[in-house]
Amino acid sequence: MTRIAVVPGSFDPVTLGHLDVIERAAGLFDQLHVLVVHNPGKTALLPIAQRVSLLQESIAAAGMRGTVLVTSWSVGLLVDYCTDVGASVLVKGIRSQIDVAYETPMAIVNRDLAGVETIFMLPDPAHAHVSSSLVRQVAALGGDVTPYVPRSVADYLQKDRG
Ligand code: PNS
Repeated sequence: MTRIAVVPGSFDPVTLGHLDVIERAAGLFDQLHVLVVHNPGKTALLPIAQRVSLLQESIAAAGMRGTVLVTSWSVGLLVDYCTDVGASVLVKGIRSQIDVAYETPMAIVNRDLAGVETIFMLPDPAHAHVSSSLVRQVAALGGDVTPYVPRSVADYLQKDRG
């Protein structure tokens, strides 16, 4: 049986913390789908297509083992995507108790809806303070984001700034 998992998120933009979780998960499953999901609760910086291409570049540059696909999803439930591609597991990165509190109800609902289990993974503590919202704020105010994001993202945000 092919073990397929999905790592969903806004990835606006992908950070080194995200990449760390993706790499760890890629080692555990036969096929990993990194899924860019529109989160209506957040004001986006990057268009979805740009987030997908930055993820693809970052994953390729990291030379990850295993099959890692990057795609996006904007219609319907996240678990519908899982069912469509035969994935029985969602992987979420957990930085703190705040993340646990935010993710736990969604994990239970996703299991109730479609029997999809959620696995919480701990990133390297070096990335525990890194979030996309922090990166967006530092970039918007002209700060250096290179310690927090893959090279391609830093280059893109720098270029965007002109
Ligand atoms: O990176 P984010 O913004 O924390 O990611 C949140 C995301 C996109 C994973 C979350 O908003 C989500 O799971 N959206 C899917 C919508 C859905 O299926 N909701 C019903 C069950 S929880």
